[in-house]
Amino acid sequence: MTHRTLTRRRLLQGMASLAAAAAMPAIHAEAQEKSPLKRPLPGTDFPLPLVGLGSWITFNVGNDPVLLEQCTAVMAAFFAMSGRMIDSSPMYGSSQATIGHGLEKLGAAQQVYATDKVWTSRPDEGSAQIEASRQAWGIPRFDLLQVHNLVAWEEHLETLFAMKEAGEIRHVGITTSHGRRHDTMERIMRDYPLDFVQLTYNIVDREAESRLLPLARERGIGVIANRPFQRKRLIRRLEGKPLPSWASDIGAGNWAQFILKFIISHPDISCAIPATTRPDHVRENMAAAANPLPDAARRRAMADYVQRL
Ligand SMILES: NC(=O)c1ccc[n+]([C@@H]2O[C@H](COP(=O)([O-])OP(=O)(O)OC[C@H]3O[C@@H](n4cnc5c(N)ncnc54)[C@H](OP(=O)(O)O)[C@@H]3O)[C@@H](O)[C@H]2O)c1
Repeated sequence: MTHRTLTRRRLLQGMASLAAAAAMPAIHAEAQEKSPLKRPLPGTDFPLPLVGLGSWITFNVGNDPVLLEQCTAVMAAFFAMSGRMIDSSPMYGSSQATIGHGLEKLGAAQQVYATDKVWTSRPDEGSAQIEASRQAWGIPRFDLLQVHNLVAWEEHLETLFAMKEAGEIRHVGITTSHGRRHDTMERIMRDYPLDFVQLTYNIVDREAESRLLPLARERGIGVIANRPFQRKRLIRRLEGKPLPSWASDIGAGNWAQFILKFIISHPDISCAIPATTRPDHVRENMAAAANPLPDAARRRAMADYVQRL
């Protein structure tokens, strides 16, 4: 993000974020009423809400105090709706520190399911990077650590499984995106006792359906869907076009909810992780994790409808 973009965003959204931050106690008050739907990690009774929160770009705000409070307001809205999984990476600029700021301000370290990544081609740097990430979050330990984009995956997986064995993290995973390197991901899923894979899956990017999602089910691996909105490109493409008349039957009040409901109604998806700068969008996204969800026939109709637009 350029300095110019950041400045403009700051001017435009400063007032809104301050108002949202001021409203945090009210958001908390409405809290536990509407818990999002959860799905247990395959083969376990460990449940996670079907919608989480990404942090790439949106939380890379440096030390700007207004934008930091705006991100804190996003996190407050997320936790008020009983959100748990926040996903980050050392690749995401200052996002980890932004999350740490929000967690401290909101006292939410106990609620978050802390999901991060190791991302270095130097295997010997992995442990130090993980420790720096943990300090940025300000938490005692991560819940899930993933090898980002399969970089130096053999060596990093060794480190992550050793950490799991030692009780230093709860779960181990690997990530990819944009449909890249699915063959390698498939091989690792067959050979290693992973808890999670993270990949791109949404109503138009559906490559994972043919092999990776069935394999995840067979192997008892949870699946995190990244890029649910193709970094907003998908929403921009659909904006202004009508939702189908039956969207209300599945509880979708807008395109964001329509897309999220498609993703999370796939029985092999554990969690979708949309990123946002806006508390109202977090609330919309979390509200998508509620009944009714589409069944298989309705999911086909949803994909056909979007394809025809
Ligand atoms: N290889 C990897 O491991 C990998 C790769 C890519 C992504 N990821 C993870 O996946 C997360 C999500 O992917 P992403 O960040 O690429 O993009 P995304 O979640 O597909 O899209 C984010 C964009 O959607 C907009 N948005 C969110 N909720 C909305 C709503 N209700 N209505 C309208 N617009 C909405 C946001 O704009 P507003 O700010 O205006 O809401 C933001 O610009 C990342 O943040 C990251 O954590 C991982």
